[in-house]
Amino acid sequence: MHFTDFSKLDLSRLPSPCFVVDEVAVERNLRILHEVEQKSGAKILHALKAFSLWDLAPLTQTYLSGTCASGLHEARLGKEHYGGEVHVFSAAFTDRDFAELLTFADHIVFNSCSQLLRYADACREAQQKRPELSFGLRINPEHSEGDVPIYDPCAAGSRLGVTRSQLDQHLVDDDFQQAFALLSGLHFHTLCEQDFLPLQRTLAAVEAKFGDLIGTMSWVNFGGGHHISHPDYQVNDLIAGITAFAEKYQIQVYLEPGEAVAIGTGVLVSEVLDIGFNELPQAILDTSATCHMPDTLEMPYKADISTAVPPNETSYNYRLGGLTCLAGDIIGDYSFAEPLSVGDRLVFEDMAHYTMVKTSTFNGTKLPAIAVWNSNTDALRVVREFDYNDFKTRLS
Ligand SMILES: Cc1ncc(COP(=O)(O)O)c(C=O)c1O
Repeated sequence: MHFTDFSKLDLSRLPSPCFVVDEVAVERNLRILHEVEQKSGAKILHALKAFSLWDLAPLTQTYLSGTCASGLHEARLGKEHYGGEVHVFSAAFTDRDFAELLTFADHIVFNSCSQLLRYADACREAQQKRPELSFGLRINPEHSEGDVPIYDPCAAGSRLGVTRSQLDQHLVDDDFQQAFALLSGLHFHTLCEQDFLPLQRTLAAVEAKFGDLIGTMSWVNFGGGHHISHPDYQVNDLIAGITAFAEKYQIQVYLEPGEAVAIGTGVLVSEVLDIGFNELPQAILDTSATCHMPDTLEMPYKADISTAVPPNETSYNYRLGGLTCLAGDIIGDYSFAEPLSVGDRLVFEDMAHYTMVKTSTFNGTKLPAIAVWNSNTDALRVVREFDYNDFKTRLS
C-alpha cells in the first residue's frame, strides 16, 4: 500500500541501497492522527519503535502530543528531538536507566508489580522534585485479537502486562498498596495492525477485568496497533469510542500508534549486482533480507516490489537474494515484465515502518542510506549515508 507514486522519483538520484521516505505521505498520516486528537480529546503519541526518522521530528511535533519509547534511548530521542510529552514503557527497567528516566520522562509505565514495588521509593523521591512525573502500570486484559503469537501480548504465558489475578495477589500486601497508590494511569497494548472493532472488543475486556480501577486513575493508554491512517480504518467510530470512554470514566485517553505514522510512506531502493542460475534464475541484490528487511524472515512475509508480479505470471522469473553468506538470505521469488540486468534498480514497497529501525550490519553489510523526498516538489535530501565506521564502532 502506498499513498505516493514512487515511480515519479528518478532513482538514479539516489545512492543504493537507500530508504526513501516521502514527507508528504508522512504528513498525510499525521493529519489523520491529529484529527482524531482534536475530535476525541485523546492525546496521540508517536511510537518511536516503529519509525524513528528524527529528521522528520519537527513535522511530527506539529501534529502529535509527544512520543512513546521502549526504553532510555528512544526516550532520549523523543526528549531531544520531538518535544511534547515523553512516555516510556519497558518490559523491565535497569537501575541505571530508570534513574536517568526519572530526570526527564513524563510518564513511566511499569510492566510488573515487582518492578513497581522495586522502584516505588525512587518514584516518590523523584516526584518531589518533579511533581508532574506520572506513573502507570501495564495491564493484560487476557483478550487476544491477533492470530500470530509473536505479535500477541495476550497470548497464553505472555510476559507483558499484569493480569487481574496477579494484581489481586499483590494488592493484599501493605507495601504494594502504597506503591500502587503512586499510579495515576493504566496502559494496555494488545493490538497489531487492527481496525476499530478489535479495539472495541478489547475495551470491553479491559472494563470487565479492570473497570473498578479505571475510575480511580487520571489517564488510560490504549497502546498501539491501531491502523488509523489505513484507508479502511473507521476513524469516526474510533473518535466516538474514545469520547464515550473518556466521558464515562472522566479520564484522559492516550493512544501510541507507530505504524499509523509511517504506513504507505517509504520504500527501500536496491540494485541488482549479479544474475546466476540454479534451478531458476537467481538475482543477487545490494540489499539483504536478514540485514535490511529482517521482518521478511522473522514474520515472515514477502515484500512487494513496484515493478514485479507474483512468480510465474510472466516468463521472467527470479529468486531475489541478499549479498550476505546466509543461505536463507532470500527476499522471495518474483516475475518481471522484462529480464533483469545488472545495475537495475528495484523498489521494495512500504519499508518505512519497522524496517529502518531493525537493520543490522551482519557480514559488515553496509546500512542503507536514508533519504527524504517531497513528492509534491520532487525535492530530495539524502539525510544520511553509512560507511565502514558505522560497522566498526559497534564492535569494539
Ligand atoms: C507498548 C507499545 N506501544 C505502542 C506500540 C506501537 O504499535 P504499532 O506500531 O503497531 O502502532 C507497540 C508495538 O509493539 C508497543 O509494544
